[in-house]
Amino acid sequence: MRLAKLLAGAGVASRRGSEELIRSGGVTVDGETVTDPARDVTERNAIAVDGSPVDHSPTRVVYALNKPAGVVSTARDTHGRPTVVGLIPSDLRLYPVGRLDADATGLILLTNDGELAHRLTHPSFEVPKTYRAVLAGKPVGQAALNALRAGVLLDDGRTAPAKVRRIGKHTIELTIHEGRKRQVKRMCEHVGHRVKLLERIRFGSLELGDLKPSAYRRLTDGEVKRLSAEGSGRRGGSASRSAPARSQPSSGRPAAARRASRS
Ligand code: URA
Repeated sequence: MRLAKLLAGAGVASRRGSEELIRSGGVTVDGETVTDPARDVTERNAIAVDGSPVDHSPTRVVYALNKPAGVVSTARDTHGRPTVVGLIPSDLRLYPVGRLDADATGLILLTNDGELAHRLTHPSFEVPKTYRAVLAGKPVGQAALNALRAGVLLDDGRTAPAKVRRIGKHTIELTIHEGRKRQVKRMCEHVGHRVKLLERIRFGSLELGDLKPSAYRRLTDGEVKRLSAEGSGRRGGSASRSAPARSQPSSGRPAAARRASRS
């Protein structure tokens, strides 16, 4: 990583401020003064500013963003569309945690911790996500709700039972934990309703709350800890599948042991 980027990421100064600091001769790498902001460094280098060591162990950050429609949830888009990563100014390399369709809105997480992103999105960890969907066609009937609750047969297999509640004639809230491609839209289409609007309102224990479209906030350490715990163990059995979004993760063996025993 470039020295200036590393200093900015460690919170020493802004990217430009860090570059000036380096050029002015205030920064040493392994005891040697370095004036090139682009000098390549790693976490193994000892870096000091005006003689004081810099703690540059990578800081884990997790942001919650209210994704607006029309923004893609990848780091880069080949068609030049705006991306969720572009909505959060940061010197760190951020990754979206999972995907929301371009036309979907709502809560998406971004982090520089690839392992956490993996655990929160991999279906085996069963982190529940709740969506609010406005459906086209006739008012949503009991048969459709029952079918969604039981699980429906899609072309990539049967979906796990979903938690579903009707909150208006055409609006439902649906909690799933699998995260297949376009899953909510396909499930609703299967029971006879096209999804007109789709918003994610909860991810694990985290609520979208009153975050405005395009607004973001950094999660607190407590929120990150809670989310990490939710992504640290596979839930098993039907009771846990229908557990409420705020339920606590199973405790017990460490995540690594549980993962190893699955492979
Ligand atoms: N289900 C969908 O159909 N689309 C999304 O973006 C997320 C879940």
